[in-house]
Amino acid sequence: MGRSRITPQRRFRRRIPPPAALVAGFLGGYCAGHLAAALRRARAQRRPARDLDGRRIVHNASDAILSVDRQTTILLANPAAAHMFGTSVAAMQGSLLARYIQPAGAAAGTPLDYFPAGGGRAGRRATDYAVTGIHANGHLFPIEGSMSSVHHDGREIWTVILRDVSERHLVQQTLARSHDQLRQLSSALQTIREEERTHIARELHDDLGQLLASLRMDLTLLARSDPLHDASRRLIQGMEANLLTAITSLRRIATNLRPRALDEGGLYFALQGLRDEFVERHGIAVTLLAEEAELRLDDAASTAVFRIVQEALTNVARHARASSVLLKLDRIDGELLVTIRDDGCGIRAQDMEKAQSLGLVGMRERVWNMGGEITIGSDDAPGTRIDIVLPLAGHAT
Ligand SMILES: Nc1ncnc2c1ncn2[C@@H]1O[C@H](COP(=O)(O)OP(=O)(O)OP(=O)(O)O)[C@@H](O)[C@H]1O
Ligand SMILES: [Mg+2]
Repeated sequence: MGRSRITPQRRFRRRIPPPAALVAGFLGGYCAGHLAAALRRARAQRRPARDLDGRRIVHNASDAILSVDRQTTILLANPAAAHMFGTSVAAMQGSLLARYIQPAGAAAGTPLDYFPAGGGRAGRRATDYAVTGIHANGHLFPIEGSMSSVHHDGREIWTVILRDVSERHLVQQTLARSHDQLRQLSSALQTIREEERTHIARELHDDLGQLLASLRMDLTLLARSDPLHDASRRLIQGMEANLLTAITSLRRIATNLRPRALDEGGLYFALQGLRDEFVERHGIAVTLLAEEAELRLDDAASTAVFRIVQEALTNVARHARASSVLLKLDRIDGELLVTIRDDGCGIRAQDMEKAQSLGLVGMRERVWNMGGEITIGSDDAPGTRIDIVLPLAGHAT
């Protein structure tokens, strides 16, 4: 139909185009095509840029986002924020921040009263905070977030990104509780162990020890009786020697379980006994620098310090390859400072993390149980140094 409207002249032009027109037409078409394609591409490229509209991003973010002005009026809240506070975006926008977040101090005039400077990491514009949120139902919950500010249309806008950390807090609290319970259990087990050791040591010493001593006396009397066959005399001498060995072993076992000095003489004498036995057994010199009067402590503190020093000396004998040990105890301003230093090979950081080693763990637990501090290391090489500070409130006698 369209064809019928074409005039002959037009028809002619269509049929036989001049070369110049052909080239121009071709070039024109080619360029126009390319131009259109280029424009399409440019438009296509520009489109995502337009789509990356801040509001849409904020709207769809899974973290709660709020923007407030200097007077803490909420200018913008995303649905995640409304969900977190149990309300709607419309209700939040225009409200004051105080309805949803507790201020850090008494004042609540500016965003900084909610997110005070210094509450996060220094040197960063966006700063991390831990604040308390107020749910629409009145329930308070922990929030963590970061804040940054921008200047917009001549005024400062504060944007905070918030995350409800109630669950994490709950897990942390449960962990802390079970950690505390484990500590209490370990401390109770240590006390029970110590009581049992004391009990067995006493039984050995008082009961079995007395029995062996009276047997020895009987044998001495028997040896004096006349007439006595030579063979019987030799037998009695052998029995006496064996009894003496048994009594010595029994004393050693009882002392290892719990030195009597700890209950009868006090910490100073117990440490002296420990040192003497260590020197004799391992041939490593030990210098004990302490004042008897400063070491008059109650049973709990005496036992703790004694067991700590005992473990430290056992470690020196087993691991240090040392030739001497310094053991220093000073009581200063209601605290007992204990230093145990050897001149051996030194301790490495990874040694202190060995899973199956419990000596240092037990040492730390005893110190922490008394509210003290302990540092173990090889800073001033050679050797290992253990420094302990124990508060003595209620432990000094
Ligand atoms: N005085 C020391 N000098 C050098 N290394 C040490 C010293 N004391 C401890 N260590 C290192 O630290 C590790 C941990 O010591 P820890 O007392 O906890 O465990 P352990 O002695 O190996 O075993 P146990 O549980 O029987 O005490 C040791 O295995 C050892 O490698
Ligand atoms: Mg050990």
